[in-house]
Amino acid sequence: MSTTGSEDDVSILAMSGSGRAGSPNTALLHAARGLAPAGVTIEIHEGLAQVPRYDRDEDTESRLPPAARDLRAAVAKADGLLIATGELTFAVPEVVRTALAWLVRPAMSTPLLRKDVAVIGVSPGGFGTVRGQVALRQLLAGYGHRVLSGPELLVSAAHDRFDRAGHLIDHQAAQRLREVLAALREQIVHGEGPGGTR
Ligand SMILES: Cc1cc2nc3c(=O)[nH]c(=O)nc-3n(C[C@H](O)[C@H](O)[C@H](O)COP(=O)(O)O)c2cc1C
Repeated sequence: MSTTGSEDDVSILAMSGSGRAGSPNTALLHAARGLAPAGVTIEIHEGLAQVPRYDRDEDTESRLPPAARDLRAAVAKADGLLIATGELTFAVPEVVRTALAWLVRPAMSTPLLRKDVAVIGVSPGGFGTVRGQVALRQLLAGYGHRVLSGPELLVSAAHDRFDRAGHLIDHQAAQRLREVLAALREQIVHGEGPGGTR
């Protein structure tokens, strides 16, 4: 937890499952930064799409790719993670799976160990990333991370939710995003969230 402000201040590292310009998932993270409740600081990790595919031979102190090193350091420093991602071919996008591959090593001392993680997502279609989120939550839980079970934020019809400048204009989604952030903070600080509000 923060060493600067109050004991209960938390820092969240936000990661987008898309490196695409105009990504609604990245826009959702920018909205989160503006909607963060008191005591929550959100930093968006910009380099996710530059992280190379996991290579065991490169995962050594001398050969570690700089983008993977930066990612590990950023995650290790954060109190919790916020991942906003769509789904590609009914699955968790490669960008996220690649990042996780670097983050679950070294075994037993991974920077992700026991991190609190919230998963949110927005898609242009009608299912609001439900399949991607289910898969990602399962994957994270399988590694022992504390995935926020609720409130959930699954945003469909992306084109109706943001203005041309990429600002979130859907009040219901904005309110739910506030609730997700408050619950993530609660889980980080007290080890549990309110839950139940799905
Ligand atoms: C090859 C391809 C596969 C896709 N598969 C899915 C999918 O399975 N489910 C879905 O909701 N959207 C799918 N989409 C739409 C993308 O998820 C959507 O454009 C994107 O997630 C939203 O933007 P962002 O991920 O860049 O933020 C697909 C798009 C492409 C190009």
